[in-house]
Amino acid sequence: MKIVVVGTGYVGLVTGACLSEVGIEVICIDVNKTKIENLQKGILPIYEPGLEDIVERNYKNGRLQFSTDLAESIVGAEVVFIAVGTPPGEDGSADLQYVLQVADNVGTHMTDYLVVVTKSTVPVGTAAKVKEAIAGALRNRSASLEYDVASNPEFLKEGAAIEDFLKPDRIVIGVESERAKSTLHQLYDPFVLNGHPIYFMDIPSAEMTKYAANAMLATKISFMNDIANLCDIVGANVNEVRKGIGSDARIGNKFIYPGIGYGGSCFPKDVKALIKTGEQNSYELRILKAVDDVNNDQKKVIISKIMKHYNGDVAGKTFAVWGLAFKPKTDDMREAPSLVIIDALLQAGANVQAYDPVSMNEAEHMLDAKVVLTKDAINATKGADALILVTEWPEFRLPNWEKIKSNMKDHVIFDGRNIYNGDEMKAKGFAYHGIGIKS
Ligand code: UDX
Repeated sequence: MKIVVVGTGYVGLVTGACLSEVGIEVICIDVNKTKIENLQKGILPIYEPGLEDIVERNYKNGRLQFSTDLAESIVGAEVVFIAVGTPPGEDGSADLQYVLQVADNVGTHMTDYLVVVTKSTVPVGTAAKVKEAIAGALRNRSASLEYDVASNPEFLKEGAAIEDFLKPDRIVIGVESERAKSTLHQLYDPFVLNGHPIYFMDIPSAEMTKYAANAMLATKISFMNDIANLCDIVGANVNEVRKGIGSDARIGNKFIYPGIGYGGSCFPKDVKALIKTGEQNSYELRILKAVDDVNNDQKKVIISKIMKHYNGDVAGKTFAVWGLAFKPKTDDMREAPSLVIIDALLQAGANVQAYDPVSMNEAEHMLDAKVVLTKDAINATKGADALILVTEWPEFRLPNWEKIKSNMKDHVIFDGRNIYNGDEMKAKGFAYHGIGIKS
């Protein structure tokens, strides 16, 4: 089987690489020539554990190829995945211009029956627009080739994307023909040998499933953040509350960790896009609006705690910031709480010394030049008044506190992810502030 994946971003690259891993012939396409040349040299545009290895191996054995030429690559392919970006437009709705451009190109260059699958997260109704765009391109060249569209949302977590792709909890596929269903069934069969389900459904339901999944997860987090803030006020400990509710299987113990708000390329964007879809259909998604509001405010909660500790004046103070990526095991800083926190500190006249295990390159072009980027975590604490834990990378869990203590001017910790034990920190001589924990 031969397939084409258009878009070598996060989703496209992981999809292409993992499909080639099970023996499928894959060509990954991108309009960005430099990106393609880099991939051919083994230079990846993103950091994702395990990805480099899979790309290198399958590129060497010829199953995985990279090209800028869709017209040439599409010949003999059975499936085309559209995995290009859907950036949020100014009003929060997903911008479909790149997706539809690809659909148009596919219609212009296809030579035989194809299943065209939307893999990017796209609003309900997009597959229908893709279908229309292909039909339009075929009409323009007076061709009457058969094709099907399908929707196959991804549920990859950054940092665990390879594992998620190779051993998915479930695969969701929206189809409207038996032919497309059978092609995609064959394609995904190697990934469900563990007995996990492939759910075939109608296309709008598949499109909605992705948004509903992300919106539900974002809701769990914002709900817990709200509870944590109230815990702070009434003197309860959200860690205990979390355990207490999480052991009820109906609630579950995952995704109920409070912190400094969710970030990344999915939750903030998808929650906003779903609210917009509601509005476009005269329906107000009231819960999701609150989820989004709570999250925006949550990114500032640690700033309020810092300001309270310093009576509103942090001018001239130095803060060590540990973790810049929106979560561990990724270099992605999109919508990361670190951006909001660092910006507020700089605005208030403070100095920032920051470190992240993998996103220092990202940091260089995303952060203000005033931020001092250090070569390791310990160095970031040199001369600092306080340490702010922003991303819970494993290497921050058991650091050398003695060294840190002697490095720091004053001994205060703001723990944005509740990874330290407040009592232990106090015993070591640090003032400690968590989220939703008495301090
Ligand atoms: C998410 C979905 O999990 C994935 O299925 C979808 O395909 C894309 O969006 P991702 O954005 O990679 O994946 O990250 P995820 O691990 O889900 O974390 C999202 C955010 O939630 C992070 O900012 C994380 O710090 C935050 N989070 C997560 C919490 O604040 N508390 C939690 O309990 C869990």
